[in-house]
Amino acid sequence: MSTQQATGPEADLVKRQFGSVTPTAAMKWTATEPRPGEFTFGDSDKIVNFATSNGMKIRGHTLVWHNQTPDWVFTDDNGQPMTPTPQNKALLLARMSDHIRTLVERYRGKITAWDVVNEVINDDGTLRQSRWYQIAGLDYIRTAFTVAHAADPAAKLCINDVNLTGPSRRDAMYDLVADLLAEGVPVDCIGSQTHVNISVPSPAALAASIEKFAKLGVDQQITEMDMSVYTDNTSSYPTVPPGLLAQQAAQYKALFAVLLRYRDQISSVTFWGVADNQTWLSTYPIPRVDAPLLFGTDLAPKPAFWAIVANPG
Ligand code: XIL
Repeated sequence: MSTQQATGPEADLVKRQFGSVTPTAAMKWTATEPRPGEFTFGDSDKIVNFATSNGMKIRGHTLVWHNQTPDWVFTDDNGQPMTPTPQNKALLLARMSDHIRTLVERYRGKITAWDVVNEVINDDGTLRQSRWYQIAGLDYIRTAFTVAHAADPAAKLCINDVNLTGPSRRDAMYDLVADLLAEGVPVDCIGSQTHVNISVPSPAALAASIEKFAKLGVDQQITEMDMSVYTDNTSSYPTVPPGLLAQQAAQYKALFAVLLRYRDQISSVTFWGVADNQTWLSTYPIPRVDAPLLFGTDLAPKPAFWAIVANPG
């Protein structure tokens, strides 16, 4: 949620229908440490206060990402973009550790789960060649989890990624987490963003990914669920045809039937937004009308909502 959604009719909806909140932007690096060592917590505090005063849980999103991270983080002591040298690696890991420690300690005991690293794997299963990886290799992931764990040993620490139902990324995530756990890196949970659409993934693909990760013995969380009414990156409707909302309801129902079947593996389901009046999919991948959530632009429950709550399967 955004800070604006912590007041007014959306806040009422959140209080009635959700048990946990996640800030979509307020805890990202650009928002919390725009300049070196200068922390700004106005927006994130608002959301944390909203949640705690209403008895809701909070997921922290996100400590380390390749997006929405200021350039200064990757700038060396001479003001140049960092190249992969041992000095730059040490500097980068020190900045990252300081950032993580500051956020996790600030909200210790309030934030129960953190996305520690976000989107570290590519769709083809290779490791993302982010500036983090280019400069620090896998040590940025190891260090991030270790520092976060020291800052709040009770928080559930997640490695979060998109499209984990795709076999390449799913298997790469499995291998990476298996290696990290074997090294003793404190990874508690795999976060599956679950930005899906009305026809993909199949319930079977979702089940296969949950079953695979279950073998690792880590918790699993659905961290950013929404469901586009489009199945490509180019189409656009002036208004969403009602038939597609019915299809969406059926697909939500089918996916939730899987989530319920694996309820012992999955400790939370988080939606990426409150209602269709505000969704990142209205600008991504192109500007267009989309309707990915359970509540409409008027904040009223959609067919998808009723499909899930009336008869979850
Ligand atoms: C998105 C936000 O929803 C947008 O408002 C912002 O402009 C870009 O980031 N995966 C993530 C999220 O982990 O942080 C992204 O959120 C959506 C994709």
